[in-house]
Amino acid sequence: MTQPMPESVSKAPTINLAFTGASGAQYGLRLLQCLVAAGCRVHVMVSKAAQIVIATETDLKLPGSPSAMQKVLTEYASAQPGQVVVFGREDWFSPPASGSGDKAPLVVCPCSTGTLSALATGASNNLIERAGDVALKERRQLILVTRESPYSQVHLENMLKLTQMGAVIMPASPGFYHRPESIEDLVDFIVARILDHLGLPQDLMPRWGEARVNAKMSRNDGFGQQD
Ligand SMILES: Cc1cc2nc3c(=O)[nH]c(=O)nc-3n(C[C@H](O)[C@H](O)[C@H](O)COP(=O)(O)O)c2cc1C
Repeated sequence: MTQPMPESVSKAPTINLAFTGASGAQYGLRLLQCLVAAGCRVHVMVSKAAQIVIATETDLKLPGSPSAMQKVLTEYASAQPGQVVVFGREDWFSPPASGSGDKAPLVVCPCSTGTLSALATGASNNLIERAGDVALKERRQLILVTRESPYSQVHLENMLKLTQMGAVIMPASPGFYHRPESIEDLVDFIVARILDHLGLPQDLMPRWGEARVNAKMSRNDGFGQQD
């Protein structure tokens, strides 16, 4: 029997989060933790290659079945029962698989160039590709955290095509102006930008100019004037 979902979770916004096989599993895992901490319900999809990359880049070993994976990720993200739901790779009856399902944004993090290509051509060969296709056709928020270096002409053309269709291409290329001291700081830079785009509160990273605005407000010295 499944456990009842707490009321706070049943009312929270849903975010679809897909892990694909690009390097940068830590971005997706940290995003999952932050979405859970923000009270969201997270519908998770994990490609076969993503499972390999997660095992290569982190200490997390994801089991094969969606229900076992859900247990591991629920624990990993300290989520409430029902807050993290994992769907199988061909679960065509899951909410992300149809335009008449939930209206949740989709974040592909990290996004491989293979999945990028599938999204640019509407391949829909697995649930992640189908969820992306649904997001595009329904004009829903689609954020693609791509990673490859260098990018080929094919990758760049696919990115241009997808951005013209309304997707947001957010390469996993963190800035350094916040003086990162750890890998976690670099990861948080990208995760903070994703949360900003989703309209979710985050205190991982101050927004550009925020420190300056706060200093001016506390000095009460003519905010808005040139200095
Ligand atoms: C350790 C590891 C790192 C990889 N890094 C990248 C990468 O940074 N970018 C990328 O596009 N593909 C990368 N790949 C290759 C993809 O995983 C591969 O193309 C796969 O078919 C993508 O499938 P998916 O989009 O269904 O996850 C990597 C593979 C492995 C095993």
